[in-house]
Amino acid sequence: MISKPSCLLIFGILLCVLHLSACQNWNAFRRKHVAQRVNCNSAMNRSPFRPLVSCKQLNTFIHASASTVKNICQGVIQSTNTTSRVSFRYTNCIFTSRRRRQCRYRAATGNNVICVTCERGAPVHFVRVGRC
Ligand SMILES: *[C@@H]1O[C@H](CO)[C@@H](O)[C@H](O)[C@H]1NC(C)=O
Repeated sequence: MISKPSCLLIFGILLCVLHLSACQNWNAFRRKHVAQRVNCNSAMNRSPFRPLVSCKQLNTFIHASASTVKNICQGVIQSTNTTSRVSFRYTNCIFTSRRRRQCRYRAATGNNVICVTCERGAPVHFVRVGRC
């Protein structure tokens, strides 16, 4: 027999796990990886990147409309890594140093196909620049 408090604890943990997986979705992907233009030093110090413990080493921003990016995953239902058919302009924000709570980045731009994880017709995870 499980006590009432431990039952609540288990329920709470379960809720957290479910919430985290719900965060791994298209909306989170958009917020992290889709922007018409970007300033690495401001973008990487704002939500959803706001540094709590450490600075993110690398983040890629794709410069295209959300619908164009979503189209990469058109018809892909099962979790699959998919290479885009078209090339995208992108900016890689690469971590250089940290001063107090400010993470500093340099920007490297390029144009290439991208590899994303598709789920239920939308990108949910950015894998890499280039083919899968
Ligand atoms: C996609 O690729 C990443 C990195 O190579 C890998 O860790 C992940 O398991 C792959 N996901 C799927 C759904 O194949």
